[in-house]
Amino acid sequence: MMNRQEVILSEDLATCLKHATDQCPHDKLFILTDEHTSRLCMPRLREIDDLPEMNEIVIGAGDIHKTLDTLASVWKRLSDSEATRHSLLLNLGGGMVTDLGGFAAATFKRGFSYINIPTTLLAMVDASVGGKTGINFNGLKNEIGAFAPANAVLIDTRFLRSLDRRNLLSGYAEMLKHGLISTEAHWAELLRFDTEQVDYDDLRELVGRSVQVKEEIVGQDPFEHGIRKALNLGHTVGHAFESLALEGNRPMLHGYAVAWGMVCELYLSHIKAGFPIGKMKQTIRFIKENYGAFHIDCKQYETLYGFMLHDKKNTAGVINFTLLEDVGKISINRTADKETIFETLDFYRECMGV
Ligand code: GLY
Repeated sequence: MMNRQEVILSEDLATCLKHATDQCPHDKLFILTDEHTSRLCMPRLREIDDLPEMNEIVIGAGDIHKTLDTLASVWKRLSDSEATRHSLLLNLGGGMVTDLGGFAAATFKRGFSYINIPTTLLAMVDASVGGKTGINFNGLKNEIGAFAPANAVLIDTRFLRSLDRRNLLSGYAEMLKHGLISTEAHWAELLRFDTEQVDYDDLRELVGRSVQVKEEIVGQDPFEHGIRKALNLGHTVGHAFESLALEGNRPMLHGYAVAWGMVCELYLSHIKAGFPIGKMKQTIRFIKENYGAFHIDCKQYETLYGFMLHDKKNTAGVINFTLLEDVGKISINRTADKETIFETLDFYRECMGV
C-alpha cells in the first residue's frame, strides 16, 4: 500500500513549510531547484524567518534535463554532502523538478523523505501529487521511475502570479480533465473561468478542488491498476500529438497536447460511449477559444496511429483509451479500431478548422 501524502493548500508558506519539515524529522535538509526556480522562487523561501539551513542543488531547467546524467549529478551532490536515509529533500519547481527530485529521493540509500513545493500550475494539479516519479530515458518520456509519494505537497498558488499564460493554460488543461472526470458542477465552473483576466482567488479555489479530484482517485488506486486510468483522459491522442510535434521540431506544452487530445477523446466518448453532444461541443468550444489548434493533415494519420499503438499504457498491442459516458461517468480500458481513430482525426480537423 502506498502511503497517502499530505497535500496542503498553503495560506502561508512559512508556517506550512515549518509544519511539514517538523513532521519529517531529519538530519540534513536539501532543496532541489532548477536554474529558473533558483532565481525566481528561492527568494520567496529565503524571506522566511528561522528557515533551517539547507543545501541547495540546482539543475538545468526543462524536459531536456530530465535525464540520467542530471539524476546522477543529484545523487553525487547528495553523496558528497553526506546525505543519509534520514535526510529530507524539498523539490521546488515544476513537474520536471518534482519528478526527478522525487526519484532521486526514492532511490538514494534506498529512499529518504521528500516534500514537493510545486511552482507551476501543471505541477500543482498533476505532477507533484500522486507519487509518480522518474526521468526520461532512451528517447522515451518517463521511461524509468517509481511510485514514491512525497511526504507532503505544499501548494502556494501565489507562485502562479508570475507564470506566463501558456504555462497557465497548460496546467489548466489537466484541471479541465479533472472537471470532466468528476462532477458537472466542477466541469461547469472550469468552463466559466476567464483565463485572460485571471482572478487568482478564484483560481486558488479551483486548484484546491482539482487536487482533491486527483487525490481521491489516486487514493483508490495508487498503482494505476484500474480507476487511476481515468487520469489518462485525453492522453492517448495527446501523447501522439506531442510525439508528432517533437518529431517535427515544433514541441508543444504538455497541457496543450492534452487539451487537443481531449477534443478527440470526447468525440470517441460520444460515438462509443454516448457522451452527450451538447457537453462535448461546450468543452471543445472552450478548448478552441483558449488553446487554438494544432495543425495536422491526413498524411500524418498513420504516424499518429503508430504513436498511439506504442503508448506505454497499452497491453498486447491494443490501444487503450479512457472514455466518458457523461461528465463524471468514467469508462476505462476502451479501445477503438484504426478506422474509428482516423474518423476521430477527421472530426478534430473539421471542428478545429485545420
Ligand atoms: N498524470 C496522471 C497520473 O498521475 O496518474
